[in-house]
Amino acid sequence: MRRVRTLRLAGYAATAKETIVGFKIRVIAAATAIGCALASQVAWSDPADRGKLQQSMQQIFSSMRLLLPASVTRGGFDSEEDADQLRASLEQVARAAGGVGEHVRANERGAQYLSRSLEREAREALYLFDQGDFESAQFSVLQMAEYCVECHSRSAIPDDSPLSKGFVSSEVFQGLEPEERARLQFATREFEAGLDTLDALLVSRDVPAEELLGAVTNYLVVSLRLKQDFERARAALRKVTRRPDLWAYIRLDVDRWIESLTELQPLAEVSGAESLKRAVEVLDRAREVTRFPSDRQALVHYVVASALLQRFVETDASDADKARAYYLLGVVESRIGRSYWLALPYFFLESAIRLNPSGASARQAYALIEEETLFLYGFEEGAATPELPMDVEERLEALRALIDKAQPGKLPPRREVRDPS
Ligand code: HEC
Repeated sequence: MRRVRTLRLAGYAATAKETIVGFKIRVIAAATAIGCALASQVAWSDPADRGKLQQSMQQIFSSMRLLLPASVTRGGFDSEEDADQLRASLEQVARAAGGVGEHVRANERGAQYLSRSLEREAREALYLFDQGDFESAQFSVLQMAEYCVECHSRSAIPDDSPLSKGFVSSEVFQGLEPEERARLQFATREFEAGLDTLDALLVSRDVPAEELLGAVTNYLVVSLRLKQDFERARAALRKVTRRPDLWAYIRLDVDRWIESLTELQPLAEVSGAESLKRAVEVLDRAREVTRFPSDRQALVHYVVASALLQRFVETDASDADKARAYYLLGVVESRIGRSYWLALPYFFLESAIRLNPSGASARQAYALIEEETLFLYGFEEGAATPELPMDVEERLEALRALIDKAQPGKLPPRREVRDPS
């Protein structure tokens, strides 16, 4: 069953296509990845393993070089002649993604999660391909790009790759909407070209001002979190303010974001133990600038907080502090997350619970997961008490049990789920 869902927590009317099955898989995926942190202690910046990571990436890219053009082409997976090669490419992505986890630091939970998710998505694409469901397999390959984008904009390495330079400029991608083209550029590490694509989009009269929020968010994530280039972000937003179709409400948002960039720029340098404290300050400030719940004025604050929190969870802080940071990352991610598909907020919230079930952040994280799950499965269809699929119910119960055991009686009871019979 496919449905279009509003990203409620994101505070704006973006819609995301979501399948119930897909969501289920991803919620479980989040849980599996949490249980699988590796014992290796190798940092991304370690030259030896950076080499291995690059090697895996090169394998992934050499496969995606074939898969992506076929995925954006109608009937691109149908040709019998190419079947063996497409199949081998999907297998190679899955295999290489499976190895990536070993080349990133064990406490890089986000990266671990994303590489495992990429592997799973590649296997799903392979399965669909083998079933002859080529269109869904193509869609699945395009979903894979989300994992690439997210992981690339989360690591500390901001460089373009010479390997993929100009790849997305090839003719086959010309028909894509600019936002989709930028996404593939970020997926293949053409960050400069991707930002250029979005620069053009932000001033394009083909896209009405009220549809720019996704592009602006992507722009901020790459320019601030990855590149720490506040100047570039400011320049791009200034250009937006000159659009003649900007109505007052959006204008107020953009003006606020430009101000916030100046206010928060000094935080670009903050890292290590201090970054949690500073992130909390930024989020306090975000509350002050927010006028009502679905307000977007704090967008820059959220992106900057996500960068600080991301840096913090990579430190060797205590589990309790990290749990708090993961809880906040979950909250922030649900506001700036570009793809509902990734289920990254859930992963972070679950991490918060599992790292420190006796903490206050575990209870808050659980409350958010529960609400979003109930909302996803029921409230949309008007059911008073949504019926959850068995495994989703079990997941919730497992998280509840962890917290109940660590802090008995502290979690408010959940409403009974009515037996549908
Ligand atoms: C787990 C995180 C993660 C995922 C998932 C991921 N990447 Fe990467 N990728 C990285 C990092 C980090 C680097 C930078 C490595 C370096 O330069 O040291 C990188 C580098 C690359 C490079 C440059 C390699 C080189 O030698 O120049 C390409 C191309 C690439 N990735 C493509 C992809 C594609 C396409 C996907 C998705 C199908 C993907 N990556 C998924 C983390 C990831």
